[in-house]
Amino acid sequence: MKDAGEVTEVKAATSEADEWDARYSERDRVWSGEPNGALVDEMTGARPGRALDVGCGEGADALWLAHQGWTVTALDVSRVALDRAGVHADGEDVDITWVLSGLLDADVPAGGFDLVSAQYPALRSTADRAAERALISAVAPGGTLLVVHHDMRDASVAREHGFDPDDWVTPGDVAALLDHSWHIEVNEVRERSISGGAGAHHTHDVVLRAQAALP
Ligand SMILES: C[S@@+](CC[C@H](N)C(=O)[O-])C[C@H]1O[C@@H](n2cnc3c(N)ncnc32)[C@H](O)[C@@H]1O
Repeated sequence: MKDAGEVTEVKAATSEADEWDARYSERDRVWSGEPNGALVDEMTGARPGRALDVGCGEGADALWLAHQGWTVTALDVSRVALDRAGVHADGEDVDITWVLSGLLDADVPAGGFDLVSAQYPALRSTADRAAERALISAVAPGGTLLVVHHDMRDASVAREHGFDPDDWVTPGDVAALLDHSWHIEVNEVRERSISGGAGAHHTHDVVLRAQAALP
């Protein structure tokens, strides 16, 4: 049996990875250590299958999903974050494959996952919408796509904090690419509950949950 804490697949490092490694290295723990509220709200009681956690960070969501019975592939560009996630999972009876890679560099199988979850993903927005398409194509027929981000409707406030929403993939960008074969179950702004960690000042989430059609 594989060690639940081991990073099992590794892709080439990028400048993006260096930036995130530096950010994670500033503190012993960056996020709250709790699974994200929107993930718990949306997936509690769902029938487990294969889940892809994109930008899994320190691994709280991946661990939560695995404890619900999901077989989890947890992907992140940051070695520091994944090593930390691995320590949390070490010795736990869970099925998690930690993959050190950017989303677009990973060999994500098309239709390979019953759940694709991207919680506050830091995916760069590009003209060809590559990241959005990668998220969508990873979902299996009948599977669920869950994309959650901070509510950044007031872009001027975000820009004052040095963050331009136009540079990053949002749930709305993903929703815009879903064709008639998808059923959008949730696409809303809602209040967020969070116990602490970086980003705790964000009060509202944008939540997109969509189900892929069965063949
Ligand atoms: C805002 S954090 C969110 C972490 C986690 N999902 C959570 O909610 O705590 C964004 C994460 O995405 C990762 N990341 C950045 N670019 C990525 C990429 N191209 N592919 C996969 N992960 C990426 C970062 O290393 C970071 O861990």
